[in-house]
Amino acid sequence: MSGTLLEVRDLSVVFDGFRAIDGVDFTVEQGELRFLIGPNGAGKTTLIDVITGLTRPASGSVRFEGWDLVGRKEHEIVRMGVGRTFQTSVVFEQLTVVENLDLAASFRRPLWSLARRRRGVSAAVEAAMATTGLDALAARPAGVLSHGQRQWLEIGMLIAQRPRLLLLDEPVAGMSGEERSRTGELLVEIAKDHTVIVIEHDMDFLRRYASQVTVLHEGKVLVEGSVDQVRSDPRVQEVYLGRAEDRDKRPAGGGRAGAAGEGRTGSAGAEPAEGAAVGSAAGEVT
Ligand SMILES: Nc1ncnc2c1ncn2[C@@H]1O[C@H](COP(=O)(O)OP(=O)(O)OP(=O)(O)O)[C@@H](O)[C@H]1O
Ligand SMILES: [Mg+2]
Repeated sequence: MSGTLLEVRDLSVVFDGFRAIDGVDFTVEQGELRFLIGPNGAGKTTLIDVITGLTRPASGSVRFEGWDLVGRKEHEIVRMGVGRTFQTSVVFEQLTVVENLDLAASFRRPLWSLARRRRGVSAAVEAAMATTGLDALAARPAGVLSHGQRQWLEIGMLIAQRPRLLLLDEPVAGMSGEERSRTGELLVEIAKDHTVIVIEHDMDFLRRYASQVTVLHEGKVLVEGSVDQVRSDPRVQEVYLGRAEDRDKRPAGGGRAGAAGEGRTGSAGAEPAEGAAVGSAAGEVT
């Protein structure tokens, strides 16, 4: 696989006069596993919201395989092959693992085929279970899964939709060390036949699984490069170290408002992991 898959040009997003994204250029090649990092409020989720049609930019373009995504509806963008997870979980708790996967897979099937009774599990669902290692849990209700297993189910639900581009918003937030490792390996596995963009803060996780990293800060691309380049960049160190010092001075809630942001921003839940990430970054960069 080669060539540009996603091309974001001079993108700006304004919320009530506040520029959450401010002139971002962002290009991802086919087959990349790209990490997107940056402090709270940097604009990471907003960038994904624009790519997936949830938020409309004030200006700029988003091209996926050459098609302009701006102005398209969310479901249309999913059908074009762009799938995402949210910062908080969206699985159906009463349904089993396999039913959740089947429902996700059916998202791209024509309506008439949903009405037909189907026997067994589709190839897409089988593949999603095998990749995520959820086979053994297929008959369990999603509600009883551990936090890590839930995240894997969400990733499986994405894969079942057969996207060409996957956007994952903090998939390892709140996970145990072992779950993080499994997720890192899963991401590397998925990236063998998909293009993947992952939002993550944890420097240790990045060092183990990332190659190319884009750092966002205050709505702009601060630095882009390899993990080592990014970690040793003084601007990145300043942003992360500065953020640790400012941590207690920031107003609660981050100023996000509106229905689009409710119930899925999940920043509070991600705090402990980010604190650890900042700590380790601070320890290593000095
Ligand atoms: N719907 C919205 N209405 C108003 N402000 C918003 C909205 N969505 C995001 N913002 C603001 O835009 C900025 C960027 O938010 P965003 O959620 O993209 O940051 P982030 O980098 O994902 O942060 P985090 O690490 O906390 O998830 C923040 O200041 C946020 O409060
Ligand atoms: Mg976010």
